Amino acid sequence: MNADKRHTGPLAPPAHVAIIMDGNGRWAQKRGLDRSAGHVEGVNTVRRITEAASKAGVSYLTLYAFSTENWNRPQQEVDALMHLIVLAIERETPDLIRNNVRLTMIGDFTRMPTEALERLRQCMADTAHCTGLTLCLALSYSSRWEITEAARRIARQVAAGDLDPEAITADTVSANLATADMPDPDLLIRTGGDMRVSNFLLWQIAYSEIVVTPTFWPDFSEQMFYEAIDQYHNRERRFGLTSEQINNEKNR
Ligand code: IPE
Ligand code: IPE
Ligand code: MG
Repeated sequence: MNADKRHTGPLAPPAHVAIIMDGNGRWAQKRGLDRSAGHVEGVNTVRRITEAASKAGVSYLTLYAFSTENWNRPQQEVDALMHLIVLAIERETPDLIRNNVRLTMIGDFTRMPTEALERLRQCMADTAHCTGLTLCLALSYSSRWEITEAARRIARQVAAGDLDPEAITADTVSANLATADMPDPDLLIRTGGDMRVSNFLLWQIAYSEIVVTPTFWPDFSEQMFYEAIDQYHNRERRFGLTSEQINNEKNR
């Protein structure tokens, strides 16, 4: 904690943490294994970090699991990943219910194989009553896809005469994104060391705090997750204001 920070009381956890889970392939290749072995191990990290986020009091955890661009990977890897989703959802659903975790999804589901989609839908239905953490999987997702869809939806409302173009605000755009019912991420974590956002939540991360760790996703631990939250707590979120304005606001 910075010495010059004047927090009183316990620090509020970030309401929404989004993670670009990267480095599965490199984790496997480093061990002379097939890339898919990294994805298998990555599922264990998903379970670990979902539990850690619940414990930390995070309300929304969005995990970037498969991007629109990832459809262009070798077919064998795509098939292995889709199969893994089916197995993982099947295996993890009882624990999600036990831990009061609700599953949701964002992405272009029209491209998902039927079996994976059915499993995911079943899991969403089975966890719909859960009131703890919301775990949102970004699958077949890209931000440009999402924003394009939002533009199309808004255009339809205008064409139907239900929306005045002059009345369109930033909130209108947010409300037409796949994440409409979630707050914007407070914290964005990327594992695997690359300093880029790879078409993830471009609109929503406008003011997110970003933590990039070189650790590959399969090695990302609960402790590292808490350290990222500590880093978040040490940042001064200014939202375009001056430090003085922020401190005056805090001390009021
Ligand atoms: C992230 O790991 C998982 C997915 C994109 C599905 P990668 O498979 O991208 O692993 P690296 O980045 O090649 O190591
Ligand atoms: C981002 O990882 C997508 C996911 C983690 C699902 P990529 O491995 O696809 O990103 P790039 O290719 O390094 O930008
Ligand atoms: Mg990668």
